Amino acid sequence: MIPTHRAWAPGRVNLIGEHTDYTGGMVLPMAIDLGTEIRFRTLEDRRISLISVAQSEPLALELPVIDPAAVRPDWGRYIAGVAEQLGNPAGIEGVISSTVPLGSGLSSSAALEVAVALALGADGSAVEIAEICQAAEHRASGVPCGIMDQLASAGGVEGHALLIDCSTRSIDAVAVPSSCSVAVIHSGQHRGLDGSAYAERVVQCAAAEAIIGPLCVARIDAWRQIADPLVAARARHVISENARVRAMAIALADGNLPDAGALMMQSHASLRDDYGVSTSVLDELVEYLAALPGVHGARLTGAGFGGCVVALCDTDVDPRPPGSIGWIVHPSTGAFVEPL
Ligand code: GLA
Repeated sequence: MIPTHRAWAPGRVNLIGEHTDYTGGMVLPMAIDLGTEIRFRTLEDRRISLISVAQSEPLALELPVIDPAAVRPDWGRYIAGVAEQLGNPAGIEGVISSTVPLGSGLSSSAALEVAVALALGADGSAVEIAEICQAAEHRASGVPCGIMDQLASAGGVEGHALLIDCSTRSIDAVAVPSSCSVAVIHSGQHRGLDGSAYAERVVQCAAAEAIIGPLCVARIDAWRQIADPLVAARARHVISENARVRAMAIALADGNLPDAGALMMQSHASLRDDYGVSTSVLDELVEYLAALPGVHGARLTGAGFGGCVVALCDTDVDPRPPGSIGWIVHPSTGAFVEPL
């Protein structure tokens, strides 16, 4: 097979705004320079034939797709989900390779979905492509994820984080100051799909909204009207996190790293205490990092329950603990497809 094109889509690290996207809240992710590439050619017949350098089993998929969640091998479900959303795409044959670590909270699945969407000929706006891929993720994994990961991958801007309002889908690029670097460190706890714990949070947010209305426009103390202490705590996280995202965008734009770092620490505490998605391993890693000179702040990033921590540091600091797996990541451009 001689490929004619390559599609590339980045993973993302979320700087702040965790578990806010599925209630239409604010997020501040940045597309990173770790990504997924597909070298492919379009086929005359209606099938998808892909191999992945990281997977032993190839994917051979007849189009149209009927049930993405039933596709084998498992990694092909995301691809099938995208193909299903695109309706009647032309077939492709190709090779997938990725530098986004799986199950780390850096959105390996979103990077795969967005790269596949481009390879299969999707040509809409970043928001349109992200919506296709979000729906694909729902179908493929059953996890009712928000729009953040797919939108960060599709809409990334070199040198910038993305302030996204998940209600309006508006995106404002916020320059990441050249005086700082962003480190992502794996906790060693592999994050599975955690679909049930994630879905439970989605339900708890809906329960809060049934009492106080949309969390994305709720007043900062509106959670006090909720009698159930657990649901009130979930709401308090989301409402306060939305405010922190807005404050973080201002701090970054001002180059105010101490404020930005303090907001990240507050976000982590809220995710730990109110939202219940941290682990003791993540907490210890955040505390270790925060105590290092030149580290302004750290927090879990992504859904939680394991995976990675993100730290905001001075550029001359490498906070990765000896022996750990981690990356210094740079704000990257969004997904693209190009001829070879
Ligand atoms: C996962 C989901 C996102 C978002 C984060 C938590 O990454 O895919 O939509 O909800 O968790 O912020």
